[in-house]
Amino acid sequence: MTILVAGATGATGRLLAGQLLDRGDTVKMVVRDPGRLPDAVKNHPRAVVMTGTILDLGDHELVELVRGCDAVALCLGHNLSMRGIFGHPRRLVADTTRRLCQAIRETRPARPVRFVLMNTVANSNRDIPESRTVAERCVIGLIRALVPPQPDNEEAAEYLRTAVGKDDASISWVVVRPDSLTDEMAVTEYDVHPSPVRSGVFDPGKTSRINVGHFMAAVIGENALWDRWKGQMPVIYNRQPA
Ligand SMILES: NC(=O)c1ccc[n+]([C@@H]2O[C@H](COP(=O)([O-])OP(=O)(O)OC[C@H]3O[C@@H](n4cnc5c(N)ncnc54)[C@H](OP(=O)(O)O)[C@@H]3O)[C@@H](O)[C@H]2O)c1
Repeated sequence: MTILVAGATGATGRLLAGQLLDRGDTVKMVVRDPGRLPDAVKNHPRAVVMTGTILDLGDHELVELVRGCDAVALCLGHNLSMRGIFGHPRRLVADTTRRLCQAIRETRPARPVRFVLMNTVANSNRDIPESRTVAERCVIGLIRALVPPQPDNEEAAEYLRTAVGKDDASISWVVVRPDSLTDEMAVTEYDVHPSPVRSGVFDPGKTSRINVGHFMAAVIGENALWDRWKGQMPVIYNRQPA
């Protein structure tokens, strides 16, 4: 498969890119600084690295970028600095999602391109009942009002859920929702649920970035897993020791 990874220099994106390459895929990446990619990714014979920013590409360039891709995986996130969180682009994730989807449609793919968005357990899947307590709703509402990355992540997922929908001829999607991200050296056992099974606000679980990358690569590459989760927003947790 050929897969475009957005955010490949990020802490999760680089792990996803590495795992896709290990699986035998060709991985396209548009990165601001190729020097931030691990050597094993950057120098891999099936890695196609372009320098730049997806949002700075013109419409035609974007169409050529996604042409021939079987899947697009988006691990973009606002850098954890005042400028990254409160500066522009405020809608980095949502605008990139929207523009990539528009570009995919322009290519008129023979079968739907698999679009996998890394999102957050702080977002809800509004297609199914996901109840939150009043206290949780207050905290998330406050974060939504004060921290721009939260509405950005929500808008990106809402675009896939409502504007693309579940019967699009060009795009099929999965929104992956990790809980609190951690860094581990190796993939461990993890569980995937349709909805959160614990409070992301008052009782957060842990999800290692390498497990997020593993699940994103698996769901892209394995048809049965894709059919299980397409059009949904699975929540992923590291498995707790019994
Ligand atoms: N922290 C948590 O516990 C947590 C929990 C659940 C979900 N999430 C979500 O998970 C996602 C990814 O997390 P992560 O820790 O892997 O992210 P990360 O390490 O911060 O990586 C962010 C990626 O986005 C790129 N990026 C940032 N600003 C950009 C811009 N203006 N233009 C182009 N590219 C830009 C970065 O590129 P550069 O390398 O060039 O900066 C990098 O590749 C985020 O959306 C976050 O909201 C986080």
